[in-house]
Amino acid sequence: MCDFEIQVKPRIVLNISITLVDKRHLGVLTVIMSLMFIGCLIVEAPDKYTMKTVSNITEIKVPPETLGIYLEEQANKRDIGKTPTKDHVKEPKKVFSIYGKPMSLLPPSKTYVVPNIVHYIWIGKNHNWKFYQLLSVLSTYYFVKPDVIYFHCDYEPIGKWWKVVKQKVKTLKIVRINMPTSIFGRLLWQSSHRADIYRIILLYNLGGIYFDTDILGLKSFNDLRVYNMTVGLEYHPGPVQGHGYGRVNNGILVAAKGADYLNVWWNTYKNMSSWTEHDRHCCIIPYTLIQQHPGLVHVEEKTLNYPSGPEYHLLYKELYDYSKNYAMHLWYENWKGKYNPDNIKKLNTTFGRVARSIYYNTTDFVD
Ligand SMILES: *[C@@H]1O[C@H](CO)[C@@H](O)[C@H](O)[C@H]1NC(C)=O
Ligand SMILES: *[C@@H]1O[C@H](CO)[C@@H](O)[C@H](O)[C@H]1NC(C)=O
Ligand SMILES: *[C@@H]1O[C@H](CO)[C@@H](O)[C@H](O)[C@H]1NC(C)=O
Ligand SMILES: *[C@@H]1O[C@H](CO)[C@@H](O)[C@H](O)[C@H]1NC(C)=O
Ligand SMILES: *[C@@H]1O[C@H](CO)[C@@H](O)[C@H](O)[C@H]1NC(C)=O
Repeated sequence: MCDFEIQVKPRIVLNISITLVDKRHLGVLTVIMSLMFIGCLIVEAPDKYTMKTVSNITEIKVPPETLGIYLEEQANKRDIGKTPTKDHVKEPKKVFSIYGKPMSLLPPSKTYVVPNIVHYIWIGKNHNWKFYQLLSVLSTYYFVKPDVIYFHCDYEPIGKWWKVVKQKVKTLKIVRINMPTSIFGRLLWQSSHRADIYRIILLYNLGGIYFDTDILGLKSFNDLRVYNMTVGLEYHPGPVQGHGYGRVNNGILVAAKGADYLNVWWNTYKNMSSWTEHDRHCCIIPYTLIQQHPGLVHVEEKTLNYPSGPEYHLLYKELYDYSKNYAMHLWYENWKGKYNPDNIKKLNTTFGRVARSIYYNTTDFVD
């Protein structure tokens, strides 16, 4: 009776209880029974932490255009397999589900398993590179300090801020590729959907750290480079319509080459019924996969994507203490503010501070 995947969809429980309590006229008995029912679900549901067998790898092939960098990575192993120094690796804070159970059971490896490379993906012809996107690549270069920043694109961006990127970022490598246009026989209409697929292909074949162009890197990712796979939650303080309590945000992914979690995720696309399922496959399914395969993925709750969307004010109106963050997700295109080198000079907000630290090398106001 209690064998539900209830931690995946806590909203269902809440809905049931609200419906039943609202119909008080059906009698006290109904209320008591519903409480017992919920209690039973909460006590029993989320206890099954076994690692399932991972399906066979047949589909994730790196496109021929990227083979060049693939071979280069193979030749140059960098620090993969090296033991991190103690002060590099600290035990990250465990993330617990709303039921108080640990969400992830992936132990850290003794050596680095994720190469220190950052990937960006860019799709579209004659698209302007914006100031906040300059900040993203500069912050990666200055603060994350990867060995290489791979910029995978079908066309290069245009505009003055792109010129600045090419001037300043010495470790930038531009890789021209054709984006995937279908998966398992289904066409991918939207650029964002193509990029969702391509980042899985990239990370599975090369490993590394993937950033959307509205991510600011704030410090080294070495602490996370000892996990085969790391995802960050989009943190919501309560149930969100259709999402339960959580979503993975695929704007930041950290993966070792061949990470099993990516393979499992990839295979769920076999079930995609139409392009409208984009959001379900990029963010909701990977969250349910954490519950199904807690041994395959390390979860960061608030250090990658928090402040999340519903809490814009912490980024753009207040001063949030981001000292524990590896990165900051700007959700920029959803925010009405538009920023440039002038209006960040005395901007007394979280974004203002971080933007100055990247562009002016100081968190203080500048003249
Ligand atoms: C994966 O599939 C290939 C070809 O279908 C097969 O040869 C191989 O044995 C499979 N590997 C595993 C681990 O099942
Ligand atoms: C990480 O992945 C590698 C390759 O798939 C595997 O051999 C290793 O056991 C994994 N490590 C952990 C801690 O799961
Ligand atoms: C596809 O959906 C079916 C039915 O919901 C499920 O049994 C199966 O595990 C799914 N396959 C993958 C790869 O997610
Ligand atoms: C910035 O804002 C904080 C409160 O959000 C305030 O305490 C501080 O005085 C402000 N700093 C300046 C220089 O205006
Ligand atoms: C930022 O300033 C520090 C000293 O305050 C200096 O060591 C560092 O090189 C500067 N970074 C850049 C990118 O100019």
